[in-house]
Parts: sequence; structure tokens; C-alpha cells
Amino acid sequence: MCGIVGYIGSKNCVPIILEGLRRLEYRGYDSAGIAVIRDDKFFIQKNAGKVADLAAALGKADGSLFSHVGMGHTRWATHGEPNDVNAHPHWDQKKQIALVHNGIIENYLAIKTKLLRDGHVFLGATDTEVLAHLIGVMFDECGDLATAVRLALSEVQGTYGIVVISPRDPQRIVAARRGSPLLIGVGDGENFVASDASAIVSHTRQVLYLDDGEIADVTCDHVRTMTIEDVDTQKTVHEVTLELSQIERGGFDHFMLKEIHEQPQTIHDAMRGRLLVDEGDVKLGGLQNTLGRLLSARRLILTACGTSWHAALVGEYMLEQIARIPTEVEYASEFRYRDPVINVDDVVLLISQSGETADTLSALRDAKSKGATVLGIVNVVGSSIARESHGGVYVHAGPEIGVASTKAFTSQLTVLALITILLARARGMARERGQVLARELASLPEKVDAVLSDTSTIQQIAREFKDARNFLYLGRGSNFPVALEGALKLKEISYIHAEGYPAAEMKHGPIALIDRNMPVVFIVPRDGIYEKVISNIQEVRARKGRIIAVANEDDSEIDKMAEFVIRVPHTYGFFGPILNIIPLQLLAYYMAVERGTNVDQPRNLAKSVTVE
Ligand code: M6R
Repeated sequence: MCGIVGYIGSKNCVPIILEGLRRLEYRGYDSAGIAVIRDDKFFIQKNAGKVADLAAALGKADGSLFSHVGMGHTRWATHGEPNDVNAHPHWDQKKQIALVHNGIIENYLAIKTKLLRDGHVFLGATDTEVLAHLIGVMFDECGDLATAVRLALSEVQGTYGIVVISPRDPQRIVAARRGSPLLIGVGDGENFVASDASAIVSHTRQVLYLDDGEIADVTCDHVRTMTIEDVDTQKTVHEVTLELSQIERGGFDHFMLKEIHEQPQTIHDAMRGRLLVDEGDVKLGGLQNTLGRLLSARRLILTACGTSWHAALVGEYMLEQIARIPTEVEYASEFRYRDPVINVDDVVLLISQSGETADTLSALRDAKSKGATVLGIVNVVGSSIARESHGGVYVHAGPEIGVASTKAFTSQLTVLALITILLARARGMARERGQVLARELASLPEKVDAVLSDTSTIQQIAREFKDARNFLYLGRGSNFPVALEGALKLKEISYIHAEGYPAAEMKHGPIALIDRNMPVVFIVPRDGIYEKVISNIQEVRARKGRIIAVANEDDSEIDKMAEFVIRVPHTYGFFGPILNIIPLQLLAYYMAVERGTNVDQPRNLAKSVTVE
């Protein structure tokens, strides 16, 4: 989704902003732009396309551009198609302020109508340009940039992370946040603004996270934060631990492949210091204060979007079957508008890689306002969901740059497994049983490594099916969500239509799709329902569907039924999804490579969806 980076200080801001924009590219975008102040005037360049196009255009326009204050933006279109005019930055009627914006101004039409009546002329179709004009009007009236931003925002409904600069006041950057993340990077005689720490981490690790409703007035040596009502707020400086190597490809062709291969380590990191194998137990510091409420909860509600929602579905199997706690799963995007019945003794777990997904954040706020305990299972440290939850567990997968989520998913599953063991033990599960589960979980990184060590079959399957137009993914029990996730991965990066289904449901509809052209991926580990899934495989075979099976190493029966078999080591049923998803991630990856799509930044998708 859109990205923001701004700079004020003694250095030339142009290369700093361009580098920041490149680091934000992974979020997904369709146009990019930059505004700097030079000789008390704006220099603005923006265009549809990539940051490389912007850099080339800048080079042509003025190769020696130098400025001490400026900002850049990568846009993911919401209002108005992705073209040069709709790209950010936008400016006001008199071109005295420029604005970059992440989010959506919901009442922009009403504001625009009023401004049109006053003679304003708009160049494009965006909600952001309307906000720029409104800030310009306020600036005319009050002459102070921060006040103008405050006054304009008090008329605005919607979500925003914004940065504003003006040649009339070139010594400051004004930033504001509501619903869209923004942080201030604190340097020595220089300061930064960014939507994501990765944009500025090569310059400073000291950051202030803006809260919703906060405005920051930033000069090169001072940051003042205030509310929209002009009340000063106190901020704590946080240290960002992100390493540059974590946000670079490090020899892999794509971030997605790097992140798939990081999983033995990231799964291990999710458990490190938390899984107590000898005691058959788990320690989770982030749940310490809320453990009582978790244990007395009448039910758990897991809510999330996309891949994180698939993790929640697997979590439901673990929590109900191992810890015996009633658990419900719901899309956050539905939860927020359904006005669900929430009781004070419900515990709502929000699962999110980014910690910024608008729908999930909104579900959190709704559940919290109804008195429930809300807990986050989040990857990005310091993100909104992490900060607004009563407690929670970081999954510690490190930065995930590929838009298609991979390592965050397996880390979320690992954390859900930890929570399950913790609750099961606290509710009376025997130590010996806890030890068995803990040992099994601890063995997973090695087993994932084994799957990753030979991808030749998967690459062969990708070559064979690269021109397929549809795929079916089928699994049962906790491997049903794995089927959903495998299908989502394929759709996202190869643009092949794929559906995930519970294997036994196939005969209630999707079986009509089966013919000799239909590849069907079965997840068929040797567990308690193995024979049932084999029956489903036979049903597909009888209709000449082409079978690809993800099966255990010791399963010799499957060779007689499947055209291709991808082998995974045996593991305890409930933890199987952590292993079984790995080949499906790889299959999606190699299919996308065969088809020549943009693996890391697939069309239309954004890494963190901060709009509804
Ligand atoms: O950051 P979150 O986990 O909250 O994101 C949720 C979804 O937007 C995300 O999982 C999306 O489905 C990914 N593109 C999946 O690969």
C-alpha cells in the first residue's frame, strides 16, 4: 500500500528520499512522486510507474537537484486511476503547500463541492488533492503550517498518514496520523518521517511512533507532537532493531524465495525461549498479564484477514482439539460491521503480519469497546495492533518483504501452537503429553529444512502445469486451511484461478469442474483421516483429474494414485500445516517464475492493506 518518506536536515534530501522509496516498493504501488523545496519554491516530479521511472525523470529534469527538505510517496490507487496527475504529491490552489497521503478521505466529495463553489480548480480525481486544497485555505487564513493542518483535519472524516511541506515555511515538515501508520525518525540535526521504519533505518534507528489523532511539527532539530485540539503529547523514543540485511534479497532471486527459505530459522525464532521442552510447557511473557482472562474465557474469537485468517482457521483446530476451548474464527472485515455479540469474558485474538491491516485494527477496536480482552499475534513490532492490544505475542519472523505472505504464516501457526500448549497445560493437560507436543514442535525447523533441501519435483510440477487455467486444492481437518492458503498463494502471484476446499466437500459442487485438464492438489498426510482423503482422491481419478499429492515420506500407496508426489516428513497432525504449506508456497513461487510474473510485487496487491 502507499508509502511515505520525508526528510529535513543539512543533507541533500533527494537521494535519501529516493532510497527510502525504493525500500518501500515492496508494499505494492502504481505511481511515485517527490516534492522538495528549493530557492523558496517547490520542485515536484511525479509519474505513474516505478521509483526507477521517477529517478530517471528526475535525472532528466534536473540531475543536480539539491534540497534540505522534501518528501516522497509511492501510491496504490484508491480514488482515481494510477496516472501522472493522480500520483502524489498534490498541492493546493496557490501551490503554497504540498501533501502526500496514505489512506482515504471519506468526506472528500462534500469538501470538494464546497471548494468548487469557491472557485477551486482540481487537476485530478483524488481525495488527497481535495485535502491539499483544504489545508491551503487554512494556511491562507492562519499563516501557520501546523495550525493549518490541524484545522483542516478537524473537518476530515476517514483515514490518513500525511506529510505537508511549504516554501512559505521551509524549515518544517508537518505530519499527522489517523488510521495509517507514520513514524518520525530522530537524527542528529536531521529528522525523518516515514510510513515504515525500513525507509529510514539506514539513517537512524531512533523512532517515535505517532498515535492516531496526533500531529507532529518537525524541524531539523526538534519534534513537537500534539493532538488535533493542540494539546502537547509526550512520546517515547524507540530503538528499531531491523537489520539492513533483513530487507535485502541476499543472493536470492526474489524476496519471496528468500523468505520461504528462512522458515527453519523463523519457526525456531518464534519458539525460542518460549517452548520449554523438558517441562512440556510454554512461557509467553506477552500473555502474563492476561493469562487469567484467557483461562477463564467463555470462548476465544480469532479474527484476521487473508493469510492470517488461514492461520486463525488452523488455530481453531489446535485450540479446540488440544486445549478444548470453544473457538470461533471470523474475517475481520466482516466482524467489524456485523455488530457481533461480544461479552466481557470473551477473548479476541487479532492475527496480523503487519499489525496495520485496517479491517483487523477496526475489529480490535470494536471488540475492545465492547469490553472484551484483545490480544495481538503480530509480526511488526510497535505496529498499531500490537500497541492497542491488552497483550499478545510477537511472531518474530523478521521483516516480510514479499507481498505474498510465507514466513509470517508459519510463524503465526507456531505461536498459535505455543498458545495452545500453554492453555492446555494450564487447564490440566499432563506434563507427559505436553512434552510430546513440545518435542514435536521443536523438531519442525529441521523437517522444514528437509522439505526445502530438494525442490526438484516442485519445479518439475511447475513446468508441467504452468499453462493451467485453474487449480483445486483439497485437504481435510487442519489441512483444509492449508488448501485455502496454497490456493491463495497461487492466485496472488501466478494469477491462475485456484480454489481451496475441504476434500469431502468436493462432491457437493466442485467435482463438476474435474476433467483431464484440472490439476488437483491433495494434502494427504498419514493421519486419522488418511483413508477418507484417499477416497476423495479416487473420486478425482475416476474423472481423470490430474493429481498432485503432498504426502508423507513413508507413504508408498500414494504413488499408485498421484501423478506427482511431493514428500514431507511425518509430524504430529495438528502441527502438520506448518510443514505441509511449505511445498505449496514453493509451488506457487515456481509457477509464477515459469509464467514470468512479478513475484514480489504482484499486480493490484499491497503488502499492508491500510484502507477498508
Ligand atoms: O498484515 P496482515 O497479516 O494483517 O495482512 C492480511 C492480508 O492482507 C494478507 O495476509 C494478504 O492476504 C497477503 N497478501 C497474503 O499473501
